[in-house]
Amino acid sequence: MGAACPVSARILRLGTVSSPAVEVEDLVLTYGSIRAVDRLTFEVAAGSVTAVVGPNGAGKTTTMETCEGYRQPHGGRVRVLGADPRRDAARLRPRVGVLLQSGGAWSGVRAVEMLRHIASLHAHPLDIPALVERLGLGSCGRTPYRSLSGGEQRRLGLAMAVVGRPELVFLDEPTAGLDPQARHGTWDLVQELRSSGVTVVLTTHYMDEAERLADTVHVIDSGRLVASGSPSELMAHGAERTVRFWAPAGLDRISLRAALPEGSRVDEPLPGSYVVRGHVDPHLLAALTAWCAANGVLAEGLAVERRTLEDVFLDLTGRELRP
Ligand SMILES: Nc1ncnc2c1ncn2[C@@H]1O[C@H](COP(=O)(O)OP(=O)(O)O)[C@@H](O)[C@H]1O
Ligand SMILES: [Mg+2]
Repeated sequence: MGAACPVSARILRLGTVSSPAVEVEDLVLTYGSIRAVDRLTFEVAAGSVTAVVGPNGAGKTTTMETCEGYRQPHGGRVRVLGADPRRDAARLRPRVGVLLQSGGAWSGVRAVEMLRHIASLHAHPLDIPALVERLGLGSCGRTPYRSLSGGEQRRLGLAMAVVGRPELVFLDEPTAGLDPQARHGTWDLVQELRSSGVTVVLTTHYMDEAERLADTVHVIDSGRLVASGSPSELMAHGAERTVRFWAPAGLDRISLRAALPEGSRVDEPLPGSYVVRGHVDPHLLAALTAWCAANGVLAEGLAVERRTLEDVFLDLTGRELRP
């Protein structure tokens, strides 16, 4: 991606500083017998980056589409910038940017034409050539949307979401299918949006993305909220670190556990791969290496690992985030 250019100079003015940019209250959405969103409640603070995370099928897109005014709630309610996203759609349109999971451009339209069209609907759009350069779309400006690669479609979608200098953007899986460079470029853009006061709501099933970008994370599973907090609050939940090491298979784990502080656990999930859980502090580490020394065990690849949001999700739901 090219050199940085300011994405939005607009400062948020929402009336009162404390009013949330998005309020989702007891939201229910069903598809036939499937309850895709099941009494979901959360708020998005103005000016923050909020990540809605969860596995495929958790209800993220359905929730976003409801906030964007594309779906009528079957129960509960949604307020966006203090307004009803369906009833007040015309009033909200210039203030809200949207990146749909499915893209959202007409299949035959050329990339830059699409961007120009969206820009023409806004009073103070961003400079298009700078944005195109910024998102690495310079070489495909004349390519019809349907012929763009998945990553290019994603980046064009992102450009379409921000070109009107919105106060609030909804980004549904903004980095799905992007290569690492484009992914980092998207992260930079999100951080820049936040610094200019734009509220960002994004969905992702990449936990590292949520950890890195979000002020607040809402974890959802089967349409329900399972946890909310800052990444560090969520990772402190149940506050365990782990120690991992490799050694010959079949070590005497009962003897090892007895040498460690009370409450420690020792597992061998794969032969020769050990995981120690508990209150991981310098004493535990000293006791572990002392036991290894006394038993002639060389603990290879010994590492203290901090918890990740993936671990949190596993703890909360008993399931892996990604299949
Ligand atoms: N148009 C639809 N018709 C029927 N079921 C749907 C439709 N869209 C989504 N679903 C179902 O609703 C649930 C939530 O889907 P979705 O909101 O897309 O989740 P996510 O974005 O978290 O992957 C899933 O079980 C999905 O299969
Ligand atoms: Mg989705």
